[in-house]
Amino acid sequence: MNDLIERAAQDLARAKKVAALTGAGISVESKIPPFRGKGGLWEQIDPMEYAHIDAFRRDPAKVWEVLIKGMKDVIDQARPNAAHLGLARLEELNRLQTIITQNVDGLHQMAGSSDVIEFHGSFAWQRCMQCDERLPTQKVSLDRIPPLCQCGGVYRPECVFFGEMIPPEHLARSQHIASRCEVMLVIGTSATVQPASYIPVLSKQSGAKVIEINPEPTALTGSVSDYLIAGKAGEMTSRIVASLERLI
Ligand code: APR
Repeated sequence: MNDLIERAAQDLARAKKVAALTGAGISVESKIPPFRGKGGLWEQIDPMEYAHIDAFRRDPAKVWEVLIKGMKDVIDQARPNAAHLGLARLEELNRLQTIITQNVDGLHQMAGSSDVIEFHGSFAWQRCMQCDERLPTQKVSLDRIPPLCQCGGVYRPECVFFGEMIPPEHLARSQHIASRCEVMLVIGTSATVQPASYIPVLSKQSGAKVIEINPEPTALTGSVSDYLIAGKAGEMTSRIVASLERLI
């Protein structure tokens, strides 16, 4: 394991353009459950019944009650962990410019990362389905479910539901960055959801080194990734940063 940590530090030390794709696994150590695998949210509730835009339109109260309220409780209490802080440190060391995250928890920004593309939107804001009025999630009262806008419309989180498009500007910028980076760090994602899981493929096809950090192999391992550092994001990212600081 040590030699892979050293290898990642050397790859980063040599790189001028570095990007990262992160998934739910990077926030597991901040007590936000993943979606798949052990303790995964989709092992408990059916995403098609609660996380699809048609399901939300059909019964917003049910989706608020079963999915969104729980997300709000967990995200309100979550704080950045060593992995988020490690990526912010890589930015300070000029060895990471942009994070493309599938997460909606805002923890990368809270950790100090300054260029974060929220590929699946953000839970920090709610938007009225009727008049597009926006409201910070922190300010939404849950006395009434689903919460209503003054116009009578239903508020929905500004996250991308299944069945919805990735915001075109986020998709385009992510593809642009992925195809121009020299190193793509892929941390805490099962790489099962398109088009996010295509991002590292784009980097690989463009000649970048793809480095995975995940306790488990994924669909990218052995085919797209150059190597997998098998472990938890917090510990592995911290060790890579420490090794890089010794190098530069
Ligand atoms: N450190 C690093 N990786 C971890 C950790 C950890 N401590 N714990 C779990 N993981 C890994 C798991 O092995 C798994 O590969 O994180 C990954 C989590 O996978 P998913 O739950 O599928 O999360 P993600 O890949 O982000 O899902 C993509 O699916 O449901 C949609 O919109 C949702 O953005 C999400 C998308």
